[in-house]
Amino acid sequence: MPHIHKFIPSHIYSLLLLTAAVLSVFSPVLAGESSPATSDIRGGYWLSWLAQDFPPSAISTSHFTHLFYAFLEPNNVTFELTITPNDDQWMRNFTSTIHAVDSQIKTILSIGGDGSSVPIFSAMAATQTTRSSFIASTISTARLYGFDGLDLDWEFPNSTDDMSHLSLLFQEWRQAIEIESPSNTGRPPLGLSAAVLYASSFQSPPRSYPADAITKYVDFVSPMCFDYFGKWTPSATGSHAQLFDKTSNLSTSYGVNSWIEAGVPAEKLVMGLPVYGRTWLLKTACDHGIGAPAEGVGPGNEGVMIYSDVLDFNSANGATVVFDTESVSTYSFAGTTWIGYDGPSSIDAKVKFAKAHGLRGYFFWALGYEKNWTIAETAQNAWMYG
Ligand SMILES: *[C@@H]1O[C@H](CO)[C@@H](O)[C@H](O)[C@H]1NC(C)=O
Ligand SMILES: *[C@@H]1O[C@H](CO)[C@@H](O)[C@H](O)[C@H]1NC(C)=O
Ligand SMILES: *[C@@H]1O[C@H](CO)[C@@H](O)[C@H](O)[C@H]1NC(C)=O
Ligand SMILES: *[C@@H]1O[C@H](CO)[C@@H](O)[C@H](O)[C@H]1NC(C)=O
Ligand SMILES: *[C@@H]1O[C@H](CO)[C@@H](O)[C@H](O)[C@H]1NC(C)=O
Repeated sequence: MPHIHKFIPSHIYSLLLLTAAVLSVFSPVLAGESSPATSDIRGGYWLSWLAQDFPPSAISTSHFTHLFYAFLEPNNVTFELTITPNDDQWMRNFTSTIHAVDSQIKTILSIGGDGSSVPIFSAMAATQTTRSSFIASTISTARLYGFDGLDLDWEFPNSTDDMSHLSLLFQEWRQAIEIESPSNTGRPPLGLSAAVLYASSFQSPPRSYPADAITKYVDFVSPMCFDYFGKWTPSATGSHAQLFDKTSNLSTSYGVNSWIEAGVPAEKLVMGLPVYGRTWLLKTACDHGIGAPAEGVGPGNEGVMIYSDVLDFNSANGATVVFDTESVSTYSFAGTTWIGYDGPSSIDAKVKFAKAHGLRGYFFWALGYEKNWTIAETAQNAWMYG
């Protein structure tokens, strides 16, 4: 999940207090008029490094059942979690602000992220001693700051050894959580979840996630169904979170099916949705489809543009916006700038796909990337009434 260290003017967030537009796209009710089961997951990651501009009090809690605090990291020597002064200030504020509004919402401490060091996780998971030090620290930190659960976002296990160590980590983590809970009178056991690659295995080097251990020991996993294309594919535009692709495995439908085929039950899968686009510089303004020739990334932070900036760009430049029904993705172009992202139409279709395939829910990367909860509202309506 890309870190975007970006200043967002606080006046924008006064908009958050406005009631979001009711964008409900009611389609014929296919799945019955079910109200959401209590176990459905409508999640979002909150970015602690943007806390000054987007504090926990700015979250529209009615759109979510699970809110993730991003991120803590293990120390590279002790493998205990490092708590920076910023974390110490915001973790309790996060859990208490959310629980004061709605005590049913699960607050989850997420560990890792794409800014974290891959070798640290590999070393932490490699031995029983280092795993146990990490696990004990995650549980005590979660309890100290009032979280309901723990989430691992190791990007990414890099070898088959890493994958077998990950399996042991999940097993020992679950055991530790079960042992800890009764000694905390009246507190339910902590939850345990993980953010994972969009698909259940990697091509190179070839390795697969431990589907058995995930099914047995983890409450749910969240495939990151985005970043299929980006600055590493500079010569052609790409829909970085497309639902379908006939000619490659780079699609959300492929990823979700690969998890189910690996043996993880659909009801343990939570589909990732990006609230950001990826941009390219077109070779010529007149060739502007998906896969059009490009000359590198366009505007944004290394070609990453948060959703509210995409909307601002589109209106400032009179961009043409296209909802591509074949891939189920959205893109816009103006001059030689091309942006692939998810607008309300593709979010609606993807959430309905998730629901129709029996998934547990969806999550957003990230909170604060849209101004007025239009995307969160669209997803929620698609989930509830789709
Ligand atoms: C929310 O943002 C969208 C896109 O900018 C805009 O069309 C809509 O009018 C906004 N709604 C509100 C309530 O501000
Ligand atoms: C741990 O991180 C520190 C600071 O980045 C670095 O100086 C040190 O070499 C690292 N130690 C190990 C064992 O990786
Ligand atoms: C959270 O921090 C804000 C300051 O940003 C403060 O106004 C608020 O009272 C704090 N809330 C809690 C529950 O600690
Ligand atoms: C991952 O593994 C590959 C091949 O085994 C190696 O070349 C690469 O350096 C590793 N990457 C990290 C971040 O450890
Ligand atoms: C997609 O993955 C499957 C294995 O799941 C593989 O057999 C197939 O060759 C892959 N297709 C492409 C186009 O990479």
